[in-house]
Amino acid sequence: MKALEGVKILDFTHVQSGPTCTQLLGWFGADVIKVERPGVGDATRKQLVDVEGADSLYFTMLNHNTRSLTLNTKNPKGKEVLERLVKECDVLVENFAPGALDRMGFTWERIQELNPRMIMASVKGFGPGPFQDCKVYENVAQCAGGSASTTGFLDGPPMVTGAQIGDSGTGLHLALGIVAALFQREKTGRGQKVLAPMQDGVLNLCRVKLRDQQRLERGPLQEYSQFGEGIPFGEATPRAGNDSGGGQPGRILKCKGWETDPDSYTYFITQAAVWDKICDVIGKPDWKEDPEYATPKARLNKLTHIFETIEQWTMTKTKFEVMEICNPLDIPVGPILSMKELAADPSLRETGTIVEVDHPERGAYLTVGCPIKMSDSEVTVTRSPLLGEHTAEILSDVLGYSDEEVAELKEAGATEVVKKMAAE
Ligand code: COA
Repeated sequence: MKALEGVKILDFTHVQSGPTCTQLLGWFGADVIKVERPGVGDATRKQLVDVEGADSLYFTMLNHNTRSLTLNTKNPKGKEVLERLVKECDVLVENFAPGALDRMGFTWERIQELNPRMIMASVKGFGPGPFQDCKVYENVAQCAGGSASTTGFLDGPPMVTGAQIGDSGTGLHLALGIVAALFQREKTGRGQKVLAPMQDGVLNLCRVKLRDQQRLERGPLQEYSQFGEGIPFGEATPRAGNDSGGGQPGRILKCKGWETDPDSYTYFITQAAVWDKICDVIGKPDWKEDPEYATPKARLNKLTHIFETIEQWTMTKTKFEVMEICNPLDIPVGPILSMKELAADPSLRETGTIVEVDHPERGAYLTVGCPIKMSDSEVTVTRSPLLGEHTAEILSDVLGYSDEEVAELKEAGATEVVKKMAAE
């Protein structure tokens, strides 16, 4: 038994944000029926292709544990199938451009008419307001949600992060909204609309930067490196390089081998509670009593010098040696791990966070499994579906169509001949 067993998801998502959400629901045990345009499918199937003729990693890594149904929802017969699916499913998830579902004839009012228990969950770029009709992609959301203006170095331009907080981050927000709506429906019997705008999701993840905006109005942000360096603050939360976002100063420092390995670095936090241990480890025991260094306040105006001194020590150790030495002393440090290192990490493989999946078109590939671990709802990662692989199966199992009716739908152009599966 899995947490969401019995829940049927009508999955109209594509690209990254929506599939992040529905894949997660699939991992929790929901039956995710991914509706794709016949002959085309999710655009990511053919984006960044690395194995000619096979679905891309972009698609396969975001669409595990789903079933693919090809359906032309603009065809009258296809519309009929969609109506039946709306009646049958618990949740409709979509991340079309604004208005696309309405144009298909499936307004919220119509969906409620068809199925008052339906939860309709959407990702959009922006919530109601001047930009509500805009199409939005990852980096646009990072920029509009406050992440880019607060990421990067003070003397450089705004910067986007590698973490896909606009797409995947919003997908996670949406999944939480869906699960909460399912829980509420248990009591009310009614569905509801769930909206996760990407701008809002990014801003939620940048909460501490809005905290700093308000603190800035009361005076300079003393824990930011620029304060110690005597650089005046402007009117908005500035970019803070690798400064830690909390009250304890931190930086990224070079480790042994940095000259040739671009990831030979460690994060190092000068946590006040372990300052004495830091002084001992780096060979500066005199700093423990020296009033110029002994208190966090006294250290603020010389953080660059302090971190340069610590770096002289970290450069004599590998990033893993730094971890081995500092961890038992409760000095917070963390190695900068490359994707290559993460892919090979034995404990991440052990816990199912890095998983090897087999695929009939492309062979074995690595993916990120479910990052949420539940003791009573085990996750098995199954490969992404081929385009239309489950069309006949879904039409018959979920909607009760006979073989003749399925053939008629194909004839009418509502579905497409299902792609032949390579032998598995
Ligand atoms: N059968 C028939 N038509 C279908 C279909 C199906 N199974 N599935 C989709 N379509 C149609 C839609 O109805 C729409 O037609 P319309 O514009 O004539 O109404 C068309 O395909 C395009 O869909 P759309 O979502 O608008 O794709 P797009 O390529 O124009 O825009 C995005 C892509 C991502 C910019 C847009 O979907 C968007 O802004 N989504 C919300 C924010 C988001 O999730 N962004 C991040 C993506 S990771």
